[in-house]
Amino acid sequence: MPSSWRGKAPGRANLIGEHVDYLGGVVLPAAVDRFTEVTGHGADEWSIDSDVPGGLRYVRAVGEELNAAPQAVSVTSQVPPNAGISSSAALLVAVAVGLAPQMDGKDAALACQRAEQKATGVQVGIMDQFASALGRRGCALLLDCATLEYQVVPFPDEVAIAVIDSGEHRSLAGTPYNQRRREAEAHDPKRMRHVDSELARVHAFVDALHARDFTRMGELLKESHVSLRDDFEVSTPDVDAIVACAWKADGCYGARIMGAGFGGSILALVDRSKTRSFAQALGRPVIFCATADGAYAR
Ligand code: GLA
Repeated sequence: MPSSWRGKAPGRANLIGEHVDYLGGVVLPAAVDRFTEVTGHGADEWSIDSDVPGGLRYVRAVGEELNAAPQAVSVTSQVPPNAGISSSAALLVAVAVGLAPQMDGKDAALACQRAEQKATGVQVGIMDQFASALGRRGCALLLDCATLEYQVVPFPDEVAIAVIDSGEHRSLAGTPYNQRRREAEAHDPKRMRHVDSELARVHAFVDALHARDFTRMGELLKESHVSLRDDFEVSTPDVDAIVACAWKADGCYGARIMGAGFGGSILALVDRSKTRSFAQALGRPVIFCATADGAYAR
């Protein structure tokens, strides 16, 4: 390992395939054009210099997964914490690519997933770390979380990926995420109704993307939201209200809760020429993203 190093990794948006990664399902995330950059050098103990508190346990956990000696790490990030584009995955993958740039991208994603699980006690799936490591500019990744086989699916520039912070912030460790995972693993019928229908929606969404049928893509987002709200029960009244507002906005193809849920963020797909009026209609900050290359994309 060089004595000093740097790394950079993007956040992610998940287009569709929510709460299925840890069950070995298929998901459709994309890396997005907001990046976390880190620099580091060997030190007597692990330390972090960052505007965002709480990163030390992530940095140490990924370093230990990579068998790295202690490092002093500095972070600058455009990935807002708690905004739903996986600032934790961006931090983990940025450190991994800085410390182990030659590593296989899948192995790096797996090391980052284990690090996140160790740092938080939350049994997260592989999706976020995988997208940050291996996303492709201009594309989403159709990822089979059972085999880690994936295909890139072209994603149109004229569709903006809008991420809206609900303002309801939570650390996943304080949510029923692990409980939902256990319920789904135990094949609870209501939870499985979400899982089975969501897996079908992922494939339908990919078909619609290939056909450039943005209206159909939006309908599938709406169906996904209803399923996450009613069957998987990970939405909240505040999130539902923002999703309803997005659905009505001019230029919006569709919207849904994104990521783990229990508050957090909303994804909307918006006609790129209508982003300004969309943000006005929402009346709250909207992050408009485009797809980006992952840290290990080559
Ligand atoms: C979080 C986890 C992911 C995934 C989503 C829900 O973002 O980190 O692994 O389980 O929730 O789809």
